[in-house]
Amino acid sequence: AFTPRVFSGIKPSGGLTLGNYLGAIKRWVNMQGPDFETVYCVVDLHAITVWQDPAELRHATREVAAGMLASGIDPEKSILFNQAQVPAHAELAWLFNCVARLGWMNRMTQFKEKAGKNAEKQSLGLYAYPSLMAADILLYHATHVPVGEDQKQHVELTRDIAQKFNHDYGVDFFPLTEPVIEGPGMRVMNLRDGSKKMSKSGESDMERINMTDDADTIAKKLRKARTDPEELPVSFDGLKNRPEAKNLVEIYAALADITPDSVLNEYGGEGWGKFKPALADLAVEKLAPISTEMKRLLDTPDEIDAILARGAEKAEAIANPILERTFDIMGF
Ligand code: ADP
Ligand code: NA
Repeated sequence: AFTPRVFSGIKPSGGLTLGNYLGAIKRWVNMQGPDFETVYCVVDLHAITVWQDPAELRHATREVAAGMLASGIDPEKSILFNQAQVPAHAELAWLFNCVARLGWMNRMTQFKEKAGKNAEKQSLGLYAYPSLMAADILLYHATHVPVGEDQKQHVELTRDIAQKFNHDYGVDFFPLTEPVIEGPGMRVMNLRDGSKKMSKSGESDMERINMTDDADTIAKKLRKARTDPEELPVSFDGLKNRPEAKNLVEIYAALADITPDSVLNEYGGEGWGKFKPALADLAVEKLAPISTEMKRLLDTPDEIDAILARGAEKAEAIANPILERTFDIMGF
């Protein structure tokens, strides 16, 4: 039996958004506790699968760590570190490159989406990304991985690698990790038209809430978020084909820890003139303390670096024996 252990990570490829907070970090905070050991990683080795300016990578690594700490990831309860400080990730990824099959990688839809028509011009790392992700997870014998729907295929590939390794070497060494898929309300869309997920790479700063935005900026962006001219519906069904409205109601629900239907119980039949200021107030109440704490941490980068260094030591205490055992099983 494997210890119930959660692994998850965020790429330091630009700043954090409300999407990362509601879709990932907030849930990770809630998973800390008696049910699981929690391992959270700033996956800098994944970030460089596409070009990263070195100075920006260094800053973004600290910013992601600061965002997790400010949101309530507690280094006493969780292991928080950045991937590049634990060389075992890259080493196990190589071993897994020799376990995973080319045909498996060819089926990964995220590579196809990210590469578009230009697959030949992508880094080999972007293609092999799921093998590194499998290493991230299996290096800790993680049993549960909270991910978005778009990462589910990669967790299935992680299971395939674990299964093939166990089978080929006649061992029962790696667990078959379960994806923990977020609820449907957890996909935060952009504020422009609700058509694409809110992302750090979105075109305009007004279409996303950054976790570093101050109170005035958060309020301004939400008051200006685009909506349709209809009033709010009285039930969730009424949000069908109204992507901007649906997004704002879901953001409110996630921030308040209530269901979208409860939000509509209160605001159904009202106009946006009442709802948007209420949403802005709620977002400021929940997010401004986080951005203030992030700013404080980012002004004292040594503090962040020290926390990550201690986290890396704790990570290695789990990861290194598992890597050594893997080498041993394979005949090294
Ligand atoms: P990506 O954004 O490419 O999925 P990240 O490493 O930036 O990769 O994402 C880290 C985590 O944040 C993932 O679990 C992802 O599902 C979540 N996340 C990112 N953007 C959003 C969003 N707009 N809504 C919900 N979750 C999101
Ligand atoms: Na991203």
